[in-house]
Amino acid sequence: MIMGKQKKTKEIIIQIDGKEVKAAEGMTVLQAAQRADIFIPTLCFHEKLEPYGLCRICTVEAEVRGWTKYVAACLYPVERDLIVRTRSEKVDKIRKLILEFLLAHAPNSPQLLELAKEYGADRDRFEKESSFCILCGLCVRYCAEVKKKNAVGFVECGSRREIQFIPEIAATECINCKECFELCPTSFLQAAFVLAESLGTNLHLIMSNMSS
Ligand code: SF4
Ligand code: FES
Repeated sequence: MIMGKQKKTKEIIIQIDGKEVKAAEGMTVLQAAQRADIFIPTLCFHEKLEPYGLCRICTVEAEVRGWTKYVAACLYPVERDLIVRTRSEKVDKIRKLILEFLLAHAPNSPQLLELAKEYGADRDRFEKESSFCILCGLCVRYCAEVKKKNAVGFVECGSRREIQFIPEIAATECINCKECFELCPTSFLQAAFVLAESLGTNLHLIMSNMSS
């Protein structure tokens, strides 16, 4: 019997915050940092899901052979000669602005407020939005990719985009699952589901009523 050759993953040494970190080819900066116990904040990342790259809170400074760029750590692959800075004046500024935008949706989210404290973000900088959802997609993707149920999805476009439970599926699936509730960075998903269920109406109506 001829045995196929096993492909060996190449090891790459990168530098994160001045520390040499071993990473395997194909890993993202976030995975390499987590392996080395270096913290990078995330909101739309979940280890069981495909990377989404939406929230950008994981932005870091990446320098390769003298060129510096700002990249999403959850998407950016490690490469040779890579130097990563997880905190810098510009990185902190980017995260602060992102948080201020997100707090317009969910001003009382403990997770966002905790990050806001760290980056000096002003909770009330922007006018409040009618939807609590920060569009991280965790609930939608978890339900589709892990649970394979698609009981919750995005509706509408642009600034009106938000999540909605699909009543026909949610009625049978969500009651016994509820695994997405604790994933939501705003912590309002559960309340929205319960309200939608009890009122038999859509989330946009509920959330606009809540914010008025
Ligand atoms: S409801 Fe929560 S988990 Fe779902 S997309 Fe919006 S913010 Fe993310
Ligand atoms: S955690 Fe990387 S973009 Fe959201």
